[in-house]
Amino acid sequence: MCGIIGYTGPLMARDVILQGLHQLEYRGYDSAGMALLTEDGGMYLRKKVGQVSALEAVCEPDIPAHCGIGHTRWATHGGVTDANAHPHAVGKVVLLYNGIIENYHTISRQFGFEGLATSETDTEVAAQLINYYYGQTGNPYEAIRRSIEIIEGSYAFCILFTDIPGTIYAIRNVSPLVAASSEQGSFIASDVTALISYTKEYFVVPEQHILTITQDQIRMETLDGTVVKPEMLEVTWDVEAAQKGGYPHFMLKEIYEQPEVFQKTIMPRLVEGLPNFEVDGVPDPLFQRCHSIQVIACGTAMYAGMVGRAIMEKQLRIPVSVSIASEFRYDTPLLDPGTLVIVVSQSGETIDTLAALRLAKECGCPVLSIVNVKGSTIARESDYVLYTHAGPEIAVASTKAYMVQLAVFYLITARMMLVRGAAEEAQVKDFIASLAKAPEWIQDALGQGDAIRKQAEKMAFSRDAFFIGRGMDYAFSLEGALKLKEISYIHAEAYAAGELKHGTIALIEPGVPVIALATQDHIFNKTISNIREVKARGAYVILITKKGVPVSSEVCDVHLEIPVEDDRFTVFPCAVLLQLLAYYTAYAKGYDMDKPRNLAKSVTVE
Ligand code: F6R
Repeated sequence: MCGIIGYTGPLMARDVILQGLHQLEYRGYDSAGMALLTEDGGMYLRKKVGQVSALEAVCEPDIPAHCGIGHTRWATHGGVTDANAHPHAVGKVVLLYNGIIENYHTISRQFGFEGLATSETDTEVAAQLINYYYGQTGNPYEAIRRSIEIIEGSYAFCILFTDIPGTIYAIRNVSPLVAASSEQGSFIASDVTALISYTKEYFVVPEQHILTITQDQIRMETLDGTVVKPEMLEVTWDVEAAQKGGYPHFMLKEIYEQPEVFQKTIMPRLVEGLPNFEVDGVPDPLFQRCHSIQVIACGTAMYAGMVGRAIMEKQLRIPVSVSIASEFRYDTPLLDPGTLVIVVSQSGETIDTLAALRLAKECGCPVLSIVNVKGSTIARESDYVLYTHAGPEIAVASTKAYMVQLAVFYLITARMMLVRGAAEEAQVKDFIASLAKAPEWIQDALGQGDAIRKQAEKMAFSRDAFFIGRGMDYAFSLEGALKLKEISYIHAEAYAAGELKHGTIALIEPGVPVIALATQDHIFNKTISNIREVKARGAYVILITKKGVPVSSEVCDVHLEIPVEDDRFTVFPCAVLLQLLAYYTAYAKGYDMDKPRNLAKSVTVE
């Protein structure tokens, strides 16, 4: 949430910052701003409501400045206005940030800043506070250190002092920041997508360390002044991975990347047809000792966990619970060290998931995380990590990350089947052989794009849509409904098919689209009966089944098929069909599905 970029070096700061903001726009796009320290000792500040292009339009070209900071906002405190956009300038301090200052009212009252504000944001209070201490001490490090002692909340700050040319200061708590130094100057940003055009080597800024960033070096100190050497990481993907590559939208590109990222995620973990986590350093006793599993995540990652639960309980016969991280973190969970906690997060930054992880650790549980972003906070705080290899996911609506989260759940299940003796080695090999066919099934589903597009055009102007299924199909439906609502703004609900008649069927009226999944043999007839119930009330039914299953033409209006025989693996092509349905519906409505309203990638506030 909120994109941050800072640059100091030989290049024109305006251009580097605008380019970085374009790359980071998926983190927030209410408004954008930049501040530059100009060659003549002045400060250039521009802020604008709207996307980064709106900011670009008000920034003159060729501004003589080689140091500056930029921000793209997802509003928390204060509405979407030019005044509330970042950076905020107070006295000699210009700053921007990502996060929430929880005690900003108290600070404002205590230091007498009330009445001085030019915006409605908590950010301005931080600028006032740092400026206050800078006035008292004349020392930027001291001003930041003293302010940080008072500020409560999560934050990633980038700070300029107008009388210190060529230097950016930064500090973070929870909210992410990465930094890098190269021949082209020094950079700081919310994530590596903004740096990748300049360097592949970077480091994750540790919490509560003050960075002093100058053209040719980045100095990092703890709050007691000890200089610390950063731990360098390398980006493993190319700059093209964060570009559209000829597709009209990142979302479509990412949907089409799924066969490839699936392979990348599972292949390094297969040895002689069996799952193996040696390269990841995940030991077998972790899987052998646990008596139950607790999955924790948010949104799409949580829905991947629901499929994970279905497959793990089926194959392993141990209890698996799935919790919404924002609920779990304020619960009094019944966990003990015998519960394996699996945390799922694409970004590795989601604040609720991180807080839930910390709570699970307090309960003494071992934590294994499934994360896409290398070096992210959740990855670093977990006992063990299984990275998904989706590459950068830029579209706000998650698609390929969900797919590889599923892949990892299936791999974990297979390894646990083996090491817990829940299946013979030959059965595990068969399970893996089926899993390895998923890219073919995904490809088949991608080939149905045109048929889905026609259906999407038909349902584009519906007010509501329902997704129904039983068992595993219900778990897939939840993700299908979320995808549709978040990018097409159609009210979409997923229901366990048998539960509809306990209330929700009242909403079924002629023409309302019902997307029905019936891919599970043992409950197929039951699901078909539920579909008949909605059909009898005039619903427009799009039915997804396995290939070759006899379906009477009275049951549905459209019949889509997936080429999978084994019920346990139907999620992979189903996920693609539902993603395409959401994508083409938003497309038919003319929406920008890469930047849906009110959303942003990486939810770093509660
Ligand atoms: C929806 C979506 C979100 C995320 C959720 C968790 O398309 O992307 O629901 O899945 O915000 O994010 P991560 O996985 O980064 O923790």
